[in-house]
Amino acid sequence: MKKLTEEENGGRAVRLQVRDLGKVFGEGDQSVTALRDVNLEIRESEFVMIVGPSGCGKTTLINIIGGLEKQTSGEVLLDGKPISGAGADRGMVFQGYSLFPWLTVQKNVEFGLKMKGIPAPHRESAAKKYIRLVGLDGFENALPKQLSGGMKQRVAIARTLANEPEILLMDEPFGALDAQTRVVMQELLANIRRKTNTTILFITHDIDEAVLLGDRVYVMSRRPGSVRAVLDVELPGERSHNSLVLPEFLRIKKQIMDMLWQESNDAAMDR
Ligand SMILES: Nc1ncnc2c1ncn2[C@@H]1O[C@H](COP(=O)(O)OP(=O)(O)O)[C@@H](O)[C@H]1O
Ligand SMILES: [Mg+2]
Repeated sequence: MKKLTEEENGGRAVRLQVRDLGKVFGEGDQSVTALRDVNLEIRESEFVMIVGPSGCGKTTLINIIGGLEKQTSGEVLLDGKPISGAGADRGMVFQGYSLFPWLTVQKNVEFGLKMKGIPAPHRESAAKKYIRLVGLDGFENALPKQLSGGMKQRVAIARTLANEPEILLMDEPFGALDAQTRVVMQELLANIRRKTNTTILFITHDIDEAVLLGDRVYVMSRRPGSVRAVLDVELPGERSHNSLVLPEFLRIKKQIMDMLWQESNDAAMDR
């Protein structure tokens, strides 16, 4: 697919576009409107975060983008073309590790490449490259049950990246990890992004995580989820645990906290 030049697009090409997306589950009295008129845009190599209260439709949104769920209205365009169903062009990483327990780390990472019919020597070296990228060299022959939660999630990330997706879709991937491991994984992901320029859409309910990782943060309203605000995050230096105490970090964090506090306060008033 032809990429738009910088001049044509005032910067990087638009990779993913979500237009007026809506989702209603069920019918009649039983129906639940999960999303209403969601609009967002992600450019090539951008790291975009979506933060929102629990139940606001984040998973529904990313599942629609991933093609696992069908929208009720609106559309999702990848490189200008409407998506239809799931595809290897969108790599998904979930909170659950979804590794094959009977396969080694190496074989788990090779899995997608094997499905694509990539010959053994090529997929072995590609898998090694991504295993190294996530810091798991030496663990090629380990089975998932021998790994910690953080390590399993490293394997899941390596496996998804090995397929070289156009965009990485991550739904609270570090949500099940303890606080220390979570920060280690956030730094790892920031590093991977710097090295690979992967385009990433990352969903979280954790404000620190959103500001730490994002070039841009979309803040969602409570259900029916829609985009309440979009904030640019420009922090000095490389993103790391040190970023968490920068004045600019805290300023943006406070802004998002206030918005989400208002959302939950409004929700409480409704009850
Ligand atoms: N398959 C489904 N059937 C009916 N309702 C659903 C289904 N999936 C999600 N919902 C509802 O849609 C809303 C948004 O859910 P979800 O996208 O999981 O939110 P989040 O990921 O932000 O916590 C919730 O009220 C949830 O109960
Ligand atoms: Mg969710």
